[in-house]
Amino acid sequence: MHAEAAFSSEFPSVLADDTLEPSPYQAALFHLRQGLQALCDLSPGADAAKREEHGQLVALQKQVLQLLHIHFAPSGEELGARFGEVLRHHRDEAGLTQEQLASYSGLSLSYIRKLEQGSKPPARTAVLALCSVAELKLVPSEITMLPAVREYSYRLAPNWYVSPNFDSVQMLHDFAMQLNGGGGSVEQTYVYLDHKSALDWIQLCNAPGYVAGFRECMPHSGIARRLREVVGQVGLDVIALGPGDGKSEVRLVQQLLEECERPNLRFYLFDVSQPLLSRAFKHAADTFGDDPNVFVCGIQGNFHQLPRYMQLHYTPARSHRRRVYVMLGATLGNIDNEPQFFQSAFAGAAPGDLLVFDAGLVFTDSIDPAVLQKQDPALSKSLEGHLRWLGGPIRRYCHDVQDVSLSLRIDTKRPLAGSYGLQFIAEATLPGMQTKEFCMWQVRRYDPASLVQCLRDFGWEPIGQIPFSGSRARPPQAAFLFQKRHGRSGSRPT
Ligand SMILES: C[S@@+](CC[C@H](N)C(=O)[O-])C[C@H]1O[C@@H](n2cnc3c(N)ncnc32)[C@H](O)[C@@H]1O
Repeated sequence: MHAEAAFSSEFPSVLADDTLEPSPYQAALFHLRQGLQALCDLSPGADAAKREEHGQLVALQKQVLQLLHIHFAPSGEELGARFGEVLRHHRDEAGLTQEQLASYSGLSLSYIRKLEQGSKPPARTAVLALCSVAELKLVPSEITMLPAVREYSYRLAPNWYVSPNFDSVQMLHDFAMQLNGGGGSVEQTYVYLDHKSALDWIQLCNAPGYVAGFRECMPHSGIARRLREVVGQVGLDVIALGPGDGKSEVRLVQQLLEECERPNLRFYLFDVSQPLLSRAFKHAADTFGDDPNVFVCGIQGNFHQLPRYMQLHYTPARSHRRRVYVMLGATLGNIDNEPQFFQSAFAGAAPGDLLVFDAGLVFTDSIDPAVLQKQDPALSKSLEGHLRWLGGPIRRYCHDVQDVSLSLRIDTKRPLAGSYGLQFIAEATLPGMQTKEFCMWQVRRYDPASLVQCLRDFGWEPIGQIPFSGSRARPPQAAFLFQKRHGRSGSRPT
């Protein structure tokens, strides 16, 4: 293995670490990298078992590097403050006002102020602009000893990861096998995988009715305010599970930044679908590209296997950061079995972690299908857009299919009491008038009390529930906020 490639698995720092005296962090980084180099240089020979163990050792060392970075990477505050002092001292000596310095250097007045206050670490281009102001007499060595934000290295740093053993081609192959079988229920992960499915989904969720009746109604600012009330001004690691095109998640992050004076946020977009992930990543990178306080990272992976992703599972209590799992767009309601999902996907969650999701709520106390048929407006809506999206894979992968139709079926056999589901049933017509049926997707209407109780049973304490409603065709909805309890049960989160 090439050593460079091995190092690149380390999650990159937003800040360069080129201080004069190596900090303990840099020393540890140096020695661990050397260790990794040495391990990579070890030759395991032809023995397969030895080769596998060698691979595991290298992977372990990479994880240690990632954890070091996550827990101990220097924050921008310290270096910003030091640079600010030097700059103010030289400006005073030169007898310049901040306005004059802004005008001579071509930097904005507010940027100069932020630099001097230490609230912004200096970008390299800014350092160069300041060095060009002769009156300032900035001593090059004094400047070059100070760490600066390498805005270009930050942009070029690895920011897209594919999780180990993830194989989207195999997933599509499995999906096609299922569609060519006798019918059955499709796990929702599959309906976003290929590019055409992703495009059809994007069109569906950007249709004017969906945007006005759902997306625009999401209480992003209420969620952000409540999260900040609970965690304060700490750094945040926002892990967006299934961000789709990323629009909702980016809005939430924008609100989180607004609620914080000195934001420090890592934004992990975690999706199974490469085309959707690239769409979300581009949107996030375009939105936050100039903001040195936000680091955007894409991870292609399966949220049913979330505990496998070690990069995301450090111990926030020690790192003075908070991790926030976010699952928007009513994605929870698409999952086969919610209690199992809460238990397995968040098995790696640590006390103090936060969880935010939105979900559709029941219209009535009854789960009698005859009552639901009358009360739930979705049952009388056109399914045209859904047919294009959910019927597409059947047309593309199912041999000999002649036609596909879509209808809704009420599902009252749900694990959460008082809740029900709507199943999107596709009927594929084959030669000789044969048909087969697939449940392609599902949505849920929850009894909020049973949803909250279920999470409580898994150690998540409710910290907020924000109702919102959109168009009449949609169910009442709510954003749910939870925090992982300290201790096994009963104790409340801090
Ligand atoms: C209902 S969409 C929600 C999209 C977005 N959050 C929104 O608010 O519009 C579900 C998203 O979850 C992703 N997804 C589905 N199953 C997944 C899995 N097993 N692992 C990771 N992502 C998954 C899909 O690719 C899609 O982006």
